Amino acid sequence: MSDYPKTRALMARGSEFLGSEWAILCGAMSWVSERGLVSAISNAGGFGVIACGAMTPELLDAEIAGTTALTQRPFGVNLITMHPALFDLIEVCGRHRVGHVVLAGGIPPKGSVEAIKATGAKVICFAPTVALGKKLLRSGADALVIEGSEAGGHIGPVSTSVLAQEILPELAAENLVFVAGGIGNGAMISAYLEMGACGVQLGTRFACASESIAHPQFKKAFFRASARDAVTSVQVDPRLPVIPVRALKNKGTDEFTAKQIEVARLLDSGAIEMGEAQLQIEHFWAGALRRAVIDGDVENGSLMAGQSVGMVSAEEPVAEIIAALLGECEAALSQRRAA
Ligand SMILES: Cc1cc2nc3c(=O)[nH]c(=O)nc-3n(C[C@H](O)[C@H](O)[C@H](O)COP(=O)(O)O)c2cc1C
Repeated sequence: MSDYPKTRALMARGSEFLGSEWAILCGAMSWVSERGLVSAISNAGGFGVIACGAMTPELLDAEIAGTTALTQRPFGVNLITMHPALFDLIEVCGRHRVGHVVLAGGIPPKGSVEAIKATGAKVICFAPTVALGKKLLRSGADALVIEGSEAGGHIGPVSTSVLAQEILPELAAENLVFVAGGIGNGAMISAYLEMGACGVQLGTRFACASESIAHPQFKKAFFRASARDAVTSVQVDPRLPVIPVRALKNKGTDEFTAKQIEVARLLDSGAIEMGEAQLQIEHFWAGALRRAVIDGDVENGSLMAGQSVGMVSAEEPVAEIIAALLGECEAALSQRRAA
């Protein structure tokens, strides 16, 4: 069983595409997914993804170089589509021969998918619906991630289980589809693989790995939390383009409400335009997440976490987390496919 043959067979398409031993991505997490965690994931046979977030091209350049120094295995880079220097960031990835770029944060702007492919990299996009998934594939996406609302961080409105039922039967036989959101146990991975997924993406479970730079207080908050503590942010003003964020409830959650009121007032007074309003909201999250992850301010910072946080109870090395997930997945598959 140590080789997990059933799991390996069902993940074959995904792992071949990623160039990793297992089709398990550690989803990019701003501030958390830096060279240490990314290289540890890839070295353990998974697929690490650098979270570019709001980094400048110079910072991304250094982070990719730092990661390359720590692993010989493939890893990816996650770029946020609304980043003002998106095309410069793509150029940096190209210079480093990054094999996979994940585009997050909405529909990729015109020319971005082509620019990535011109560097030789594969493009992975998030598909929120079947129709958009088909459109992204037609536009050149090489693989899709479907991420449900159980996930940590910025989320869509539909649960992973419903997205999986809608999208996998329609797209997964002919295309590469990874499932994310709410996965804390390998038995769940086995179910999505059997439905046609070529692999999975986890975030919350890896945020507290021994190799994660997250502050000990941040990790402690995760170990104490249960699923119901990971709540979604509330939108105060219907005009504000606020993407809901799932995080552990704390004072920072309330501060976000206050921030929205402040931004809405600035909009009313004409001091800022809608695009600037959205940027201010996103900068709020980036700053708040940094306070929690790096400074350990678990009161006022943002403790972005998915509902699977209830299944995270101790700090474990990445290799042990991956081995546990594979063992659970293989056991579930063996039970169902015994004969
Ligand atoms: C602390 C945290 C930060 C995140 N930051 C990002 C990000 O910068 N970009 C992104 O595409 N996804 C981000 N995510 C989502 C993860 O990449 C991943 O898709 C998600 O965590 C999967 O769901 P799970 O948390 O239920 O495992 C973040 C998630 C967490 C928990």
